[in-house]
Amino acid sequence: MSINTSTRPGPIAQALIARDDQTMSGSMVPRYPFVMERGLGAHVWDVDGNEYIDFAAGIAVNSTGHCHPKVVQAITEQAQKFIHIAGTDYYYEVQVRLAERLAQIAPFKENARVFLSNSGAEAVEAAIKMSRWYTKRQNVIAFFGAFHGRTLGALSLTASKVVQRNGFFPLVPGVYHVPYNNPYRCLHGREEAACRTNCICASYIEDVVFKKIMPGDSIAAIILEPIQGEGGYLVPDARFVQDLRRICDKYGIMLISDEVQAGMGRTGKWWAIEHHGVEPDIITSAKGIASGMPLGAIIAKEHVMSWPPGAHGTTFGGNPISCAAALVTIDLIEQGYMQNAAEQGEYIREALEEMKSHHPSLRHGRIDGHGLMIGAELVLDDKRTPAGVIRNTVEKTAIQNGLLILGAGENTLRFCPPLMIERETVQEGLERFDLSLTQAEQEAGLL
Ligand SMILES: Cc1ncc(COP(=O)(O)O)c(C=O)c1O
Repeated sequence: MSINTSTRPGPIAQALIARDDQTMSGSMVPRYPFVMERGLGAHVWDVDGNEYIDFAAGIAVNSTGHCHPKVVQAITEQAQKFIHIAGTDYYYEVQVRLAERLAQIAPFKENARVFLSNSGAEAVEAAIKMSRWYTKRQNVIAFFGAFHGRTLGALSLTASKVVQRNGFFPLVPGVYHVPYNNPYRCLHGREEAACRTNCICASYIEDVVFKKIMPGDSIAAIILEPIQGEGGYLVPDARFVQDLRRICDKYGIMLISDEVQAGMGRTGKWWAIEHHGVEPDIITSAKGIASGMPLGAIIAKEHVMSWPPGAHGTTFGGNPISCAAALVTIDLIEQGYMQNAAEQGEYIREALEEMKSHHPSLRHGRIDGHGLMIGAELVLDDKRTPAGVIRNTVEKTAIQNGLLILGAGENTLRFCPPLMIERETVQEGLERFDLSLTQAEQEAGLL
C-alpha cells in the first residue's frame, strides 16, 4: 500500500478550509479536513491530488458511486430540456414516471401514492403532517437516538445529540421519545439475553406511555428508523418492529418507516423495514434516491395519502433533474447494485469479525448491519465501555491513510460506501481501515 500521508490536508485544501472558516455558518463545521476535487465510483480525490476510498458516500447518498456516466447523462439531457417548472402548478412527465416507479417498489399490498420533496427533513415533515391530517390526531412517538432532520418539526422527533436541539426550544409539542430496541446496550438497563428473548421496548409504549402520558388514540404516528442511522447503525430485533406494527394496528396509528438513510437498496432490500417482515403505512426516502441530486419522497398507502388539493406543496420538490437522476439510480440499483450491496456488505461484516483477533477495541464491540449499512461499535473492554476517543482518532487517521469513513453515535464507525463498490476497492478500503484502527489503538495505549 503506497499512501502519501504527509500532505493531508495539503496546502490548497488548507487555504480553502481557512476561507470556509471565515464565511460559512459556524453551525456547520465539517468534521473532516477533506476538500473534494472530483470523484469516480467509490474513489475521490482532494484538491491537492490525494486519492481516497469513499466508505462514506456523502452520508449514504452516492448510491451509484460518484459521477456514474448514466446518471451524468440523465442529468445533462434533462438540463438541456428544462430545469424547473414547479409541480405545484404544472405537470411534467419525468416526475410522474418517478412517482409510478416509486409506487411500484413500495412495500405495500395496496396501491401507493407519492409526494416529492427536496430533502429528508422535508419528507419527514410531510409524513408527520399527513399522519396528523389522516388520523385527525396530534401526538407522535419517536425513539431515543433517532435522527429525522433539522427543520423544527423533524428536529422535534430527533433525539440524537443535545447540541442539535439545545437553543431551539420550544419544539413541536406532542412528541414523546421512548427507548429504541438495542439489546447490546439496553436503555431499560436489561441484560442482552433478556432483551433478546423478551424485549420490553414496545410493551413499554402500551403499558407505560399510553397509560400514564398520552392515550393510544391520541397518537397520529410512530416514526421509526428501521435501522437507526446517526444514533449508531443499530439493527433492532424484528419482533420489536412487529410489535410496533401490532400496536399501530390496535390503536389506529400510522407507522412511518424513515428510510432516508437505510432505504433505496442500501441494505440489500429496497426498504430496510422489509428485513423485519413489517409493512409500514408511510415511507420517507431521500439521500440515496437520486445519486446525490437533492430529492426526497414520501410514499404512502393510497388510502392514507388522501389529503385535499392545497394541503401540502413545494416549489422545488420533485425537481426534474433530480427526478431524471432518480429514475436512472433506481434502474441501476435494481439491475445489480442492490445485490452487490448485499454481497459486499456480507464480506465487510466477515472481515470486521476477523479483525476482532488483532483489534482489542473490536473484540467485545458490536458489528451490526444489513448490506452496506454496517456499524462497528468500538469498546475498551468486556464491560463494553465506549471507546469514543479511539473512534474519533480513527476518523482522523483514516483521512491520512486515504479513507473516508464516518462516525455514528458516540463510539461507532459506519461503513456505508456506494452500492456499486467493487470487491477490490472494498479490500483496499478495509486495509486502510485496519491500519487506521491500529494507529488509533496504539495512540490510546491499547496496543
Ligand atoms: C433517518 C434520517 N432521516 C432524516 C434525515 C434528514 O435528511 P436531510 O439531511 O436530507 O434533511 C436524515 C439525515 O441524516 C436521516 O438519516
